[in-house]
Amino acid sequence: MSQFPLLEHYPELIYLDSAAACQVPAEVLQAIQHYYQYQHANVHRAGHRLGRAATLALEQARAQLAAFMGAPAEQVTLQSSTTAVLNYLAQYLPVSWQAGDEVLLTRAEHHANILPWQRLAERHQLQLKYIDIDPQTGALSAWEELLTARTKVVSVTFASNVTGALFDIEPLLQRAQQQGSWTIVDAAQAAAHYPLRASELGCDALVFSAHKVYGVAGCAPLYLSERLLTQLPPMLVGGGVVQQVTPTQATFIDGIQRFEAGSPNTAAAVAAAAAVQWLAKQDGQRLSALRSLLVSELRQRAWLNVLPSGLQATPTVAFYSNEFHAYDVATWLDQHGIAVRAGHHCAQVFLQHWQLPAVVRVSLGVYITEAHIHQFLQTLDAGWALFSSD
Ligand SMILES: Cc1ncc(COP(=O)(O)O)c(C=O)c1O
Repeated sequence: MSQFPLLEHYPELIYLDSAAACQVPAEVLQAIQHYYQYQHANVHRAGHRLGRAATLALEQARAQLAAFMGAPAEQVTLQSSTTAVLNYLAQYLPVSWQAGDEVLLTRAEHHANILPWQRLAERHQLQLKYIDIDPQTGALSAWEELLTARTKVVSVTFASNVTGALFDIEPLLQRAQQQGSWTIVDAAQAAAHYPLRASELGCDALVFSAHKVYGVAGCAPLYLSERLLTQLPPMLVGGGVVQQVTPTQATFIDGIQRFEAGSPNTAAAVAAAAAVQWLAKQDGQRLSALRSLLVSELRQRAWLNVLPSGLQATPTVAFYSNEFHAYDVATWLDQHGIAVRAGHHCAQVFLQHWQLPAVVRVSLGVYITEAHIHQFLQTLDAGWALFSSD
């Protein structure tokens, strides 16, 4: 099997949509196969041999994912998706909300980190505040005045899913925690490219989706600080999280497993652990260099504009043209075997900031080479030559 069986199956494809989902390496597919072939049973409750094997596989996966996040395993729960987690946190954070309390976000949030807070804000008459993005640099603008005594939650993305900008969130998180706000990090875009250091960052919760780090959908490791872990109620209730249940009441177990009611997706967790181990062997610098090449090439084309992305960025780039619509660019590229995304990228608040309806997003994965970048640019130029001559 090649390193990426899907890409072997489509040898002509240039897959530039890894920010949405990475293609899955053979090693990860093999880990899933191995789990189902030799270890599969339901976990925790079964005392038999396979039940023990599956439980061990799940707990080993948790330990490896925790190490990847820079956190102790006892503080990492395996959830299903970043979206699910952000919805849970908005619903269950231990805050006695008063009308006028504030939640601080950035304008670069994915809808997954806006809509749950909007729903909560409607319920309790809260104020949502947004940290701006500097139009010149693409980095976060000043946030000091937005963090007030009424800020109960700061929930921010580590990196933009549109421009790739990696935000300097640590000072914000530290300051917010010092004043007693809950701090949440959406690490969905950063996880594959930047050390997460969850325990040191100043966050109470940090989450990412495994399908964005070369794993598969269905696993989202969530780090919880000690203070949140002890105060957060179980988000889902059911099997596996109780000490005792009477017809009218239940008491819950302590520790991280009380956030894992029901049967977990052990295969997805095993795949996620295999993926982060595989990822550790890849050369991240190579993708940064390819990104720089791509950005400098795009900037030479007067007919398009690259959105700024700050000093550090994931290998994701967004651009638009006033003459060649983003959807037409993406369709043209797709007709030539190149997969990119066009649209608002589930970040409409961010695109409104730039007053743009849609941009093209190019996101690189480990399988992308310099030859692919040149082929992409040539195809883009050919499209422009054709459409601009109309
Ligand atoms: C920054 C960011 N947050 C959250 C999400 C949602 O992740 P999921 O669809 O895995 O729940 C995404 C997905 O694109 C994302 O890029």
